[in-house]
Amino acid sequence: MRIDVVTIFPEFFSVLDVSLLGKARQSGLIDIRVHDLRGFTHDRHRTVDDTPTGGGAGMVMKPEPWGEALDTILAGTADAVVVFPTPAGELFRQPVARELADAPHLVFCCGRYEGIDQRVVDHTRTRPEVAAVRELSLGDYVLNGGEVAAMAIIEAAGRLVPGMVGNPESLVEESHEDGLLEYPSYTKPAVWRELETPPVLLSGNHAAIAAWRREQQLERTRRIRPELLRD
Ligand code: ADE
Repeated sequence: MRIDVVTIFPEFFSVLDVSLLGKARQSGLIDIRVHDLRGFTHDRHRTVDDTPTGGGAGMVMKPEPWGEALDTILAGTADAVVVFPTPAGELFRQPVARELADAPHLVFCCGRYEGIDQRVVDHTRTRPEVAAVRELSLGDYVLNGGEVAAMAIIEAAGRLVPGMVGNPESLVEESHEDGLLEYPSYTKPAVWRELETPPVLLSGNHAAIAAWRREQQLERTRRIRPELLRD
């Protein structure tokens, strides 16, 4: 999988060198390239923002550097997905992570300030033969920019790329894969600070363990995220 990231803070993405994603990068499974948006400006101050048309607070990212960056990155590509992290986007959930994991090429456009001029998104949408467009929100809160959101999305999608996670079974039995929260996990010792591990887990009865875990998933989901049972 190839991943391009466009940002005014390329240094944010040095964390992608560690952990499982770092290993996947080293092995060539994932090819991540980070681009400085200011490299696509042509004025002395390398300007990337301007005041909002129509008035209002804050600054908006100018379309021209984004257009050049996307033209460069998408040249010769046919099946990219261009992701714009934004609190105004569709909610990023596990099924979207699975869709992104299937794409051979992801491009993340990390906006700052009040966001990117909407025409950058709209223009990219006029080229479906080159790329699909997704405006994605991590949740109902506002971050300072798209960088942290892009990293979360890269990690969530990247770990679903075949070959990424050591044990593929651990992907099946986790929160959200079946639309429910995950059951609680325990390891040794069986008693810790006077707290016991649920006895069924020590019984060796695999059917009973599976039934208990399922019940825990349902109980947790009902208590913490009841809306998941209605969706
Ligand atoms: N950029 C700023 N806030 C965001 C959010 N909640 N999700 C995705 N991108 C964002």
